[in-house]
Amino acid sequence: MNAVQDNIQANKERYLEELLELLKIPSISADSAYAGDVRKTAEYLAEKLKSAGAEHVKIYDTAGHPVLYGDKIIGDDLPTILVYGHYDVQPPDPLDLWDSPPFEPVIKKTDRHPEGAIYARGACDDKGQMYMHFKAFEAMMQTDSLPCNVKFMLEGEEEIGSANLETFCREYADMLACDVVLLSDTSVIANDTPSITTGLRGLSYLEVEVVGANKDLHSGVYGGAVANPLNILSKMIARMKDENNRITIPGFYDDVEVVSDAERTEMNKAPFDLNEYKQFLDIDEIEGEDGYTTLERTSIRPTLDVNGMWGGYIGEGAKTVLPSKAEAKISMRLVPNQDPEKITQLFTEYFNSLAPASVKVKVKPHHGGYPAVTPTDTLEYKAAHMAMEKTYGKAPIPQRSGGSIPIVSMFEDVFKVKSVLLGFGLATDDIHSPNEHYGLFNFYKGIETIPYFYKYYAELKAK
Ligand code: BES
Ligand code: MN
Ligand code: MN
Repeated sequence: MNAVQDNIQANKERYLEELLELLKIPSISADSAYAGDVRKTAEYLAEKLKSAGAEHVKIYDTAGHPVLYGDKIIGDDLPTILVYGHYDVQPPDPLDLWDSPPFEPVIKKTDRHPEGAIYARGACDDKGQMYMHFKAFEAMMQTDSLPCNVKFMLEGEEEIGSANLETFCREYADMLACDVVLLSDTSVIANDTPSITTGLRGLSYLEVEVVGANKDLHSGVYGGAVANPLNILSKMIARMKDENNRITIPGFYDDVEVVSDAERTEMNKAPFDLNEYKQFLDIDEIEGEDGYTTLERTSIRPTLDVNGMWGGYIGEGAKTVLPSKAEAKISMRLVPNQDPEKITQLFTEYFNSLAPASVKVKVKPHHGGYPAVTPTDTLEYKAAHMAMEKTYGKAPIPQRSGGSIPIVSMFEDVFKVKSVLLGFGLATDDIHSPNEHYGLFNFYKGIETIPYFYKYYAELKAK
């Protein structure tokens, strides 16, 4: 194993340079103006995959952005790891809140990252984390120590809901057959507190529209006599949670998995400092569902949040207007046993029922996703545990995450295998926010840990 680790140490600087190049390509999947850059990113990665030693490297077109595949099969009797990652990124807006341009990566030292962190959109989510797998693979290839088969599947549509990945997986199910899926797209608790993600929340995302009069009106001439859709939408949204911050949609909690007291006690042992948390966010008080801790609220409990809301006049100065229309984007994070389609249905019925006769309403569902839980009593979990313990010098803690990666449950469906969520980011890395960054410590720790996962996994499977 030392040969691999020595190889990694000797090539660290080059890894970083290559990642910086990758981060310069603005692979924003949500904005069609960047479709060419999304493809360019796949092409850049295809070259890197080939030079690392992968075979059958190919960019597969889909109805949306392409999927990149490559593999290295060294023995039919050996287990196969399918590495998943996404090379698309979130839009960087609002641009003026970035300290440096999002696609001109810079390295800065901070208190939290004394070794330095890379600032760029996608640095952590997921280019930086995905690229760790390229370099770990390359190091194993260069030292002739790849212990099992590996397949890479990298998509360019994760941030917009992976609409075409399921079709791709089903179409190429034979090519993609594997024993386990390995991905790094989550976080650890802290750099001195390693953890393995054992759960992801599901998602139901929709857009709503409330329409009053057939045009914008003078708010003096008509105000007070005709419905104001913005006022009404605000009221309808406010009614979706009660005074204890419980969601009021009838049936919403019916299927929610009840987590045992023992498990709750266990999960609350994870280090968490509320004061630090408030300080990081610059808030005087937190807010959430009564009866649950912050760790529970962001992992085992579902949520309902407005992600954006608009209508009426939002330009400079004051314009007296009674808007004709109000709109909002609303997301619900779901926990095990909740079905996104059923939740969308329940939301729609309730939303319609809350609307007064003075307005017309519409609900348009967007992408959704099922929650996922990964068991801790599997060989792959054990291998991940051993690998992290080896490189961090400390046993990792299992932790459920609040984020969503809907394709994890899809993989279970299609490939009939579990995933290992071996993430190395920090919750404070500002993913999806301005000034996203990824610690160099985290980047290198990931590259060092991954080969141990391969090794332990292959050994445990051989037993
Ligand atoms: N990598 C994130 C999900 C994540 C982040 C999981 C941190 C755990 C910890 C992923 O790229 C993401 O942003 N997912 C979206 C959902 C997707 C359908 C757009 C999310 O969670 O909002
Ligand atoms: Mn991601
Ligand atoms: Mn993301």
